[in-house]
Amino acid sequence: MRAKRTSLVHIIYFSRLTLSSDPAKRSAQIDDITRVAQKKNEFAVITSLLIIENNFAAQVIEGERNSVEETFSRINADQRHRDVQICEWREIAKREFVHSFKCSQRSSSNDVLYSKANLLPMFQRGTPKTSAILSLAMALQADLMSRQGIDHLFV
Ligand SMILES: Cc1cc2nc3c(=O)[nH]c(=O)nc-3n(C[C@H](O)[C@H](O)[C@H](O)COP(=O)(O)O)c2cc1C
Repeated sequence: MRAKRTSLVHIIYFSRLTLSSDPAKRSAQIDDITRVAQKKNEFAVITSLLIIENNFAAQVIEGERNSVEETFSRINADQRHRDVQICEWREIAKREFVHSFKCSQRSSSNDVLYSKANLLPMFQRGTPKTSAILSLAMALQADLMSRQGIDHLFV
């Protein structure tokens, strides 16, 4: 018999980044966030994907309830973004993401996916749809994996 799983939850939030306007500094700041988040999430068995479009961020964080709450409270207090708003916080039956932390920024190689999701006007109005964030995050993960040639494991 399979061991009973602990309760899994996800939090989906969005926020406004307060990163440097200098591209090199901004990129170093994102690298810093990524380095720490990967390590901490791996340790806490959190899986996550962060979407960055212009000065907006949206993140899906999945894992065991206490770990997700603890991680989110750290993220919420971080000065590198503001106006952190939760879109959804609920129990989930299974994880959708495989990496401890992946960050996707809009670029020429994934522009089609970002355009299709059309999140930017929703971020600007302050009312992004949870389903749009989640499906973009999943499409970006699928895109990353197919570029690495490992998409066949996840059909
Ligand atoms: C947009 C954004 C997303 C972040 N995502 C994570 C994350 O998934 N996991 C994490 O541990 N820290 C994440 N961080 C960093 C945390 O806010 C915090 O700086 C880090 O966990 C270290 O916390 P500490 O200095 O209290 O130890 C994120 C920060 C920002 C601005």
